[in-house]
Amino acid sequence: MAIVRNVSMRTELHFHLLPSVDDGPCDDHEAIGLARLAVADGTGRVVVTPHARLAKIEALPGLTARLDEVLRKAGVELELGCGAELSPEDLLRLDQDELEIIAQGPPGERWALLEAPLVKSDVSLQWAANELRRRGMGVLIGHPERSPTTPAAALHELAALGAVIQINASSLTGRHGPEARDAALSLARSSLPFLLASDAHSPSRPPLLTAAASELISAGVDGATVRAAVDVLPEAILRHGLSAAHRPGAHGPHGGRLRLGQRERAAVRVARSPQVFLDRRRGS
Ligand SMILES: [Fe+2]
Repeated sequence: MAIVRNVSMRTELHFHLLPSVDDGPCDDHEAIGLARLAVADGTGRVVVTPHARLAKIEALPGLTARLDEVLRKAGVELELGCGAELSPEDLLRLDQDELEIIAQGPPGERWALLEAPLVKSDVSLQWAANELRRRGMGVLIGHPERSPTTPAAALHELAALGAVIQINASSLTGRHGPEARDAALSLARSSLPFLLASDAHSPSRPPLLTAAASELISAGVDGATVRAAVDVLPEAILRHGLSAAHRPGAHGPHGGRLRLGQRERAAVRVARSPQVFLDRRRGS
């Protein structure tokens, strides 16, 4: 999990930065270059998220710590956290200890990044999300705009249970074609709680948060929503976590147990779902 210091910084929650683990950077040199691009994009913290199916989960904390040292020696000021990108099938084989290694958030509010499948999968996104919740974890749904097998109705059902949507910045900049871009804009204009992440892999598939934010503004999405998706919500769910299940009535809107900062309160105001997760945060 990431160490969240009491300093606000732009945070990437979906980013392939560990070298020689998956289809991310091939070596330290490329990882350093990619990390420098993240810093140039305004990012101060990255949760590294290699594909779980290509990684030895128990090795990830050590690999993350090693890369942290490599970046420090290279003079790259980027805080790292240890995570992974789960596919729905991964929930069939990973045990609880392995999930804990790659999960984020404080105790009781743990969550994991679960990708919406890019092609038809034998295991549905809904089953996998339910399985994560059954194991006590909330869900960040990776790049549903790139998943033709994930209908909007399914996303609304998952969001009603507390899931948050992660849109790829690269979808908004058009890298994945017009259908993915249109789907990304549709999600950003919907009532679903969403945030942006780069899902960067290499210097040729780079961090794009700033460019994607500009795309959203140009498309008419209001500035407060864009700031929340880029600069507030990623850090907020890393710091405060996500609930495994929505518990209607457990806390009223903006209930008394919250102790949110100014920027997080702004995120609450722009999050338009009545099930918005921040309503249930206890604060830190
Ligand atoms: Fe990814």
